[in-house]
Amino acid sequence: MPSPLILVNLKTFREGMGNRAHMIANAAQLVAHESGVTIGIAPSYIDLHPLSHHFAIPVYAQHVDGFEPGAHTGHITVDALKLAGAAGSLINHSERRLTLAEIEASVRALQALKLIPVVCTNNEATSAGAAALGPEYVAIEPPELIGSGVSVSKANPDIIRRSVAAVHAVNQKVKVLTGAGIQSGECVKIAIDLGTDGVLLASSVVKAKDPLSVLRDLVSKL
Ligand code: G3P
Repeated sequence: MPSPLILVNLKTFREGMGNRAHMIANAAQLVAHESGVTIGIAPSYIDLHPLSHHFAIPVYAQHVDGFEPGAHTGHITVDALKLAGAAGSLINHSERRLTLAEIEASVRALQALKLIPVVCTNNEATSAGAAALGPEYVAIEPPELIGSGVSVSKANPDIIRRSVAAVHAVNQKVKVLTGAGIQSGECVKIAIDLGTDGVLLASSVVKAKDPLSVLRDLVSKL
């Protein structure tokens, strides 16, 4: 069985920028090495290239625009991500929603350069829709639980179960992540037992006093 993916989104938290981003990436790399679990990090654009340069763990963007390079001011293209060493990108995160056409363009642009699309969704219907685009991952996150400290694994295991079924009914090859309030090894274990291929999380690691201990706990039941 391939390793699950634990993907840590640093968002724009002050605790996830600059030196803290390096400290979290270093902890993630150490825990990935100790455990054999794949741990990725999604920093701000500013930190993406330094982190991909200094660390071997996969580094993801938090958003990408599916444009060709050219006259687009203030946007970020897949070519730019590739040059910066990104492994892939989140698309349509709850805090950065896109139109269906934009989601498709971003998935296709990433795939064309062999980068990994992670399409975020909010329920089983949108998860099925995202699966129809054939990304590597669909990440189901109930928006009301994001940043709440209440774990989707415990508060709403049904949405995980239903989303895994909805995605696989459309395309068996698409892997499913879940997120919102994930904070412990137990949350991760429940998510995996419900048929996901990993988790997407943020605040429990980024805002922790000691991200290394939280990361060690996250992989402890795998
Ligand atoms: O991208 C992950 C995120 O939306 C979940 O956030 O803070 O609930 O782990 P959090």
